[in-house]
Amino acid sequence: MSRTIEAIIKHTDAIPEKHSSAKYQTMKAIRIHNYGGPEVLQYEDAPRPKPQAGEVLIRVHAAGVNPIDWKVREGHMKDFWPHKFPLILGWDVSGTVEEVGPGVSRFKIGDEVYSIPDPTRNGAYADYIVVRESELALKPNSLHHIRAAAVPLAALTAWQSLFDTAQLQPGQRVLIHAGGGGVGHFAVQLAKWKGAYVFATASTKNQDLLRELGVDQAIDYTQQRFEDVARNIDIVLDTIGGETQERSWSVLKKGGGLVSLVQPPSEEKAEELGVRAALLGVQPNGAQLAEIAKIIDSDKLAPIIDRILPLSEARRAHELSQSGHTHGKIVLRVFDQTERKS
Ligand SMILES: NC(=O)c1ccc[n+]([C@@H]2O[C@H](COP(=O)([O-])OP(=O)(O)OC[C@H]3O[C@@H](n4cnc5c(N)ncnc54)[C@H](OP(=O)(O)O)[C@@H]3O)[C@@H](O)[C@H]2O)c1
Repeated sequence: MSRTIEAIIKHTDAIPEKHSSAKYQTMKAIRIHNYGGPEVLQYEDAPRPKPQAGEVLIRVHAAGVNPIDWKVREGHMKDFWPHKFPLILGWDVSGTVEEVGPGVSRFKIGDEVYSIPDPTRNGAYADYIVVRESELALKPNSLHHIRAAAVPLAALTAWQSLFDTAQLQPGQRVLIHAGGGGVGHFAVQLAKWKGAYVFATASTKNQDLLRELGVDQAIDYTQQRFEDVARNIDIVLDTIGGETQERSWSVLKKGGGLVSLVQPPSEEKAEELGVRAALLGVQPNGAQLAEIAKIIDSDKLAPIIDRILPLSEARRAHELSQSGHTHGKIVLRVFDQTERKS
């Protein structure tokens, strides 16, 4: 190749290279610059993150919405998590590995993955997110990204509550409050998968859903007192707190356990009744997500989707989540591969 031609090629190569590197640096994201109502959610340009050692850059296809998202937005977690503004919300993701940092050995570019990213860092309401390798698993093969993004946080919470904390055994009797909610609908299915006898509560409109999920005794909390139906319970999963938690003590058998997701249960009360009680804080865990993916692919577990909205409609998603009466999960669609290909 003559020097001149080489120089021309280098020159013309340099133009798209420069253009693409500028593009590389930004992405669309939903960020907050201060705490507040849904109006603080801004759909805007943000810097595209780079994976460091042990980290993976994911092209986000979909982000699940959880109550923790609006709790962070309103500032409820500010004394626990050292967030900095501007902050990207959303700690449920399904997407494709775009780039791997040094030392990453279990994932490669193009892998389809899902995760709960570390909630102290930027979340998944964005085109890209950086996640630690240990927080990742291959997504279930049988689920499209939209449905896969509904799984990690809620399913892992149910898993860690029932199996790690309460040590649920086959044949035990479980009461799951809000069995049609994000965590509850996974907890019902996982408890049935384990061979438990399941009581679950929901309002009238969600009674059919409870039965479809496999609940043995569905309780309409608007018509019945749950303690009139559920007795001699081994494990209560408290997703509500307050009066619901207070009334739950009476349904437990001696030696049973109460796991709350929302409010520390009284140690004195637990001791007095001879039961165990714990507040659970879900932890990111790629290995457990890999187990959950296997159960989903064997048709024993499935997410229920209440609503799919585009990323730009995160405000609407928060309003719906905050209503406290969605069933299953809300998911934000971030990147549609079929649209991009056509
Ligand atoms: N500690 C942790 O690590 C952790 C992890 C995940 C979630 N959480 C917390 O756990 C709670 C539940 O989370 P989620 O994602 O399941 O929420 P969610 O999907 O918003 O829950 C909505 C469900 O709650 C039901 N519900 C409302 N009031 C009820 C009542 N009095 N009795 C029974 N069911 C009732 C609704 O059913 P109806 O419409 O039929 O009333 C609805 O299906 C949230 O506060 C969340 O922040 C904590």
